[in-house]
Amino acid sequence: MAEKALIDIKDIGRKYVIGTEVVHALKSVSLQVNKGEFVALMGPSGSGKSTLMNILGCLDTPTRGEYILNGIHVSEMSDDELAEVRNKEIGFVFQTFNLLPRSTALDNVALPLIYAGYSKARREEKAKKALESVNLANRMEHKPNELSGGQRQRVAVARALINDPSIILADEPTGNLDTKTSIEIMGLLEEIHSKGNTIILVTHEEDIAQHAHRIVRMRDGLIEDDYPNTDIKRVSPRLDALKAKGTDWEGI
Ligand SMILES: Nc1ncnc2c1ncn2[C@@H]1O[C@H](COP(=O)(O)OP(=O)(O)O)[C@@H](O)[C@H]1O
Ligand SMILES: [Mg+2]
Repeated sequence: MAEKALIDIKDIGRKYVIGTEVVHALKSVSLQVNKGEFVALMGPSGSGKSTLMNILGCLDTPTRGEYILNGIHVSEMSDDELAEVRNKEIGFVFQTFNLLPRSTALDNVALPLIYAGYSKARREEKAKKALESVNLANRMEHKPNELSGGQRQRVAVARALINDPSIILADEPTGNLDTKTSIEIMGLLEEIHSKGNTIILVTHEEDIAQHAHRIVRMRDGLIEDDYPNTDIKRVSPRLDALKAKGTDWEGI
C-alpha cells in the first residue's frame, strides 16, 4: 500500500471578497506532501504562496476543497479544533520573525508550551534545550532588539520546534537576512530536515530553493510546476568549516 501523505489537499480554493471585488488568491490547488519531504514553494509576488501556507498551517481555511493533514479532515474543523491541530502539528517561521518584543528569547520560545499545558519549570527547561540546539545558549535572556537578524530568526526556529511538530512551515525565512545569515538559517533547516522533519519553505530566491528536495512553482493561484530537485545544494559542509575556524559564528 502506498504511504499516506502527511499533507493532502484536493482542489483547494481561497477567495477574498472586498466590497464588490473578488480576489481568487487560490483557484484550484492540489498537492500531496509525504513525511520527511523538504519542499520549496516558489512563485512571483501575489501568486498565492502565503495564502497556501496559511491554509496548510491551519491559520486559515479554504473557501473550497479538502485538506487532510496527518489523516485528519482539517477543512471541516471549527476554529478551536484547528487551533489544537495547529499547536500539535505545525511550527511556523516567518520573514519578520514575529517575536514578542518585550519578552526574552527564552520566554518567546517557551510561549507555545503554555497552550500545551506544561508547568513553568518544564517550559523553561524545554525552551533552554531548544535555544541550545540553535546555538543560542548565551542569548537566552536577551530581548529581540538585543539580537541580530540571524539570532532572531534562530529564536523563531527554536520556537517553531518546541512542540515537536510534524511540519515546519517557513514563509520567506531568509527574506530579511543577508546572504551569510541566510546560509546559516538554511543550514539550520537542513539539520532539522535531516532529523526527520517535514519542511515547506516559501522563497523567491532560486539559490535558497536549491536546498530543498522538491520544487513547487505557483502562478496566479495555481501550481504550474512540481518536480524533484536533482541538484540539491547543501550548507552543512560550509557551515562546519565556518564553525571549525571559529569564524564569526557567534556574531552571525
Ligand atoms: N487578506 C487578504 N484580503 C484580500 N486579498 C488578499 C488577502 N491576502 C492575500 N490577498 C490577495 O491574494 C493574492 C495572493 O496573495 P499571497 O498569498 O499573499 O501571495 P504571495 O505570498 O505569493 O505573494 C494577492 O492578489 C493578494 O493581494
Ligand atoms: Mg507571501
